[in-house]
Amino acid sequence: MKYIVTSALPYANGKLHVGHVAGAYLPADIFVRFLRLENQDVIYICGTDEHGTPISISAGKEGISPKEIVDRYHTLISDAFDGIGIEFDNFSGTAREQHHTLSQEFFTSLYEKGNITSKTTKQFYCEHDKRFLPDRYVEGICPKCGAEHARGDQCDTCGQTYETSTLKSPKCKLCGNEPIIRETKHWFLDLSQFTDRLRDWIAGKDYWKENVRNFMLNLLREGLIERSITRDLSWGVPVPLPDTEGKVLYVWFDAPIGYISSTIEWAEKQGDKDKWKDYWLNKDTKMVHFIGKDNIIFHALIWPAMLMGQDKDYCLPHDIPANEFMNLEGEKISTSRNWAIWVDEFVQDFDGEYLRYYLAANAPERQDSDFGFKDFQQKINGELNNVLGNFANRVFAFAKRHFDSQILGCELDETCKTTLKEADEALHEIRKSYYEYQVKKNTKTIIDIARLGNRFFDERKPWAMIKENKDQVQATLWTCASLLDKISVALTPILPKHMQKLRDMMQLEALNSFDDAFLSKDYILGDFSPLFRKIEDEEIQKQIDKLHAGSAVEPEKNYDPVKDEIDFEDFMKLDLRLAKVLSAERVPKTDKLLKLRIDLGFEERDLVAGIAEHYKPEDIVGKIVTMVVNLQPRKIRGVLSQGMILAAHDESGLHVLTPDGGSPGSSVQ
Ligand code: 2FM
Ligand code: ZN
Repeated sequence: MKYIVTSALPYANGKLHVGHVAGAYLPADIFVRFLRLENQDVIYICGTDEHGTPISISAGKEGISPKEIVDRYHTLISDAFDGIGIEFDNFSGTAREQHHTLSQEFFTSLYEKGNITSKTTKQFYCEHDKRFLPDRYVEGICPKCGAEHARGDQCDTCGQTYETSTLKSPKCKLCGNEPIIRETKHWFLDLSQFTDRLRDWIAGKDYWKENVRNFMLNLLREGLIERSITRDLSWGVPVPLPDTEGKVLYVWFDAPIGYISSTIEWAEKQGDKDKWKDYWLNKDTKMVHFIGKDNIIFHALIWPAMLMGQDKDYCLPHDIPANEFMNLEGEKISTSRNWAIWVDEFVQDFDGEYLRYYLAANAPERQDSDFGFKDFQQKINGELNNVLGNFANRVFAFAKRHFDSQILGCELDETCKTTLKEADEALHEIRKSYYEYQVKKNTKTIIDIARLGNRFFDERKPWAMIKENKDQVQATLWTCASLLDKISVALTPILPKHMQKLRDMMQLEALNSFDDAFLSKDYILGDFSPLFRKIEDEEIQKQIDKLHAGSAVEPEKNYDPVKDEIDFEDFMKLDLRLAKVLSAERVPKTDKLLKLRIDLGFEERDLVAGIAEHYKPEDIVGKIVTMVVNLQPRKIRGVLSQGMILAAHDESGLHVLTPDGGSPGSSVQ
């Protein structure tokens, strides 16, 4: 059996950020590395997606050709992949000739079968620039939700599509003028003709992720429609029909064909130009597309239909593990507002495999996940360094001191056997989960094996036993070395470089298969140097500062809903006064509460305020605050609280309301 594994082709108009990596690249790279350990025949294919309006718009703005933009980002993206050890068998680009030819062949095949129809459509046209304004060349106000920056026929804010002519206040992105509507001919892929074939194909896909399968079943239920597959543009694959000057294939039509053209390029580089056919024209090939959830419709619906409409008998996707999104510090990643962690910059500061580890441990497999810098630090220090690194360190150090680093196989007692059995069971589970792309779960299970090792080492107390029973200590160490060996195999797909280093230090033979993890052997350890390094607080603070300084993101504000209306009399029942805080102290055994003594002018009172996380006692003493004085007294933690002070809450914290004048006891209205 053969595997084709692909990752969504990244657009060649921006750099790679951690959200991309977490969704479509790292999970695929890990899957491929695992398959190689299983000695499966697999090719991992990608390339840059080099067409589409954002690229030609950027080029126009910079006064250079789209090709120059594409080449710049192709290199930047490819280098970023190198920095985090994403290793494709081929990384091509869709502006290459081979790809254009193949894309035209795809179009022609569908056209000749009658799967493509044409009709006259209404598009925006700029009289100033003398050109049509497809997709992102026009911006306006969404007719559905009122959001700004909506595109010609689709709004990124609400996700809805609409008739081009209904976009409000349309503006040409090039000159800012209002465009007119003009008629132009376009071609459409009639998906309804594929309904039965797609339905039969999906029927067998009960192993798909639920989000992808349900998405497809819903589309089929609603009925498939035609999709426009051409644009009035000069940058792209020319429509292969007569009299179609100035018309190209829509970027989403040609992009997935890049999976094939990149494989053809790979075969040529191998000096075996037909080798791509062994994979693509083979019914036994398992093709797995790793993508983000925004690409489901193209990969699960349109692309399979395109493949079904070819003269050649291409294999169809076997699985489409679409991942959810990764946010950053609680906010959506936004490239335009620079709220992102750029891979090329991050790997200047941290080992690329630290990023792999964190993104694997935090993979957005079933739901959106969040990249938090402090969490990143915690996972690297607390898991990689303190658990796995420490375990390796202990085993090497002890073996060197007492066994001259030679830990030969020996008689194992029951505890050793049980420990190894537990690890082997975990390993079988890990193998199964790798086949199911469950990277997050595997990362945890592997660190749990290291935890098991540390616990075992502690319980066996080799430092004490060495005087009494050297054989028993040898069994302890052999068990620990074997655990490390197993970990090094299981973690290789996620941290290939570090696990190679560990295996080199253990002087293990080259890793041939996942099954090597179950082999029994003598261990003759080499020199040890720490596997991981600790990440310091200052390094993390620097990253946080950089993120905020470079970004234009205002944290999204969540407003409390407005409460039910009250009448004026209800309002007048509230007795609000100014009060001076005379003293403040923490309420014992609570984090949130301060006990305040306040002066109302006409009397003094005690009250308990939930502000201790935002105000130290000394910060609030002496302040004039606003308070409700006629609230029924309540006993809180043994203190009779007679009133409530007012404060405003938002994401930045809590702020007590202080007047800009007035004395204690004054009424507030
Ligand atoms: O969403 C994207 O980034 C697209 N460039 C993905 C294309 S995937 C494939 F079909 F090529
Ligand atoms: Zn214009």
